[in-house]
Amino acid sequence: MQKASTIGVLTSGGDAPGMNAAIRAVVRTGKYYGMKVMGVRKGYEGLIHGDIFEMSARDVSDIMHRGGTVLQTARSDDFKEVEGVRRGISTARYFGIEGIVVIGGDGSFRGARDLCAEGMPAVAIPATIDNDISCTEYTIGFDTAINTAKEAVDKIRDTATSHERCNIIKVMGRASGNIALNVGIATGAETVLIPEQEVDFERDVIEPIHAGHKRNKKHFIIIVAEGVAGSDDLDKRIEEAIGLEARTTILGYTQRGGSPTVVDRVYASQMGSYAVELLKDGVSDRIIGIKKGSIYEVDIFEGLNMPHTVREDLISLSKILSI
Ligand code: F6P
Repeated sequence: MQKASTIGVLTSGGDAPGMNAAIRAVVRTGKYYGMKVMGVRKGYEGLIHGDIFEMSARDVSDIMHRGGTVLQTARSDDFKEVEGVRRGISTARYFGIEGIVVIGGDGSFRGARDLCAEGMPAVAIPATIDNDISCTEYTIGFDTAINTAKEAVDKIRDTATSHERCNIIKVMGRASGNIALNVGIATGAETVLIPEQEVDFERDVIEPIHAGHKRNKKHFIIIVAEGVAGSDDLDKRIEEAIGLEARTTILGYTQRGGSPTVVDRVYASQMGSYAVELLKDGVSDRIIGIKKGSIYEVDIFEGLNMPHTVREDLISLSKILSI
């Protein structure tokens, strides 16, 4: 691609805390280099329909500490079709956009890949609370989400202790167990159920409770990732199987909101700035990620094909520490 002097920025898919810090970094870095920065509202929907406006450095004042995304977001069905992608590109060109920074999760990355394939330069920044993108160790929003969940589980533990109950807490994460695993370790959960591992009710739920009782444990915390199949009536099944009172709490969208942590703000600022530098230098078709703790970039087609992995070390740590 040739060096871009007008760029677009959009957020797409599920919102994540820290998206605003990334938008701010894109706009301010663009302005720093004398570029024109166009904000696109509501993700790919806004790109298709021309919901696009020029942003100044002041438009991103006082947004870094806010959750959600000031550009708003959407999941666009139209953009899954090549027709939608082409319409988006022609609208972008009408507004003079020469390259687009896409901030979102893996669904949004597929949209960015399609933009590249159809001739519109794009750079993608990983932002989803799920931390489920294979080509990066970290996605913006994850740290805030696990801290929110950690606070909730700490509170639930107080009541679990008082009543000597089993409390089941469901966390988000789509098909990934990353949130569950990290929250489980951070809150000292007895059991963590994740979609990457087959769940056997007797072996993974009932046996650890029996073993805990023998070691004088009075209450049990079970963290369940939302992607675990057949986990809807775990509380009833536990009560029926062993007569232990059980209650379920679904943390849901509380994990998606709130002021981003320092970790999320700093990664978002670094990634937003780096994305603009790439487009300014004429580099496109990239995903920005974190590898061994540092910022790196990978080809978008290659990055999207990397296989999903799970932290085996954290799985075994969680088991060792729950005795
Ligand atoms: O990808 C983030 C996430 O919050 C997942 O954890 C969850 O499965 C999904 O989005 C919920 O999506 P929606 O906002 O469409 O309900």
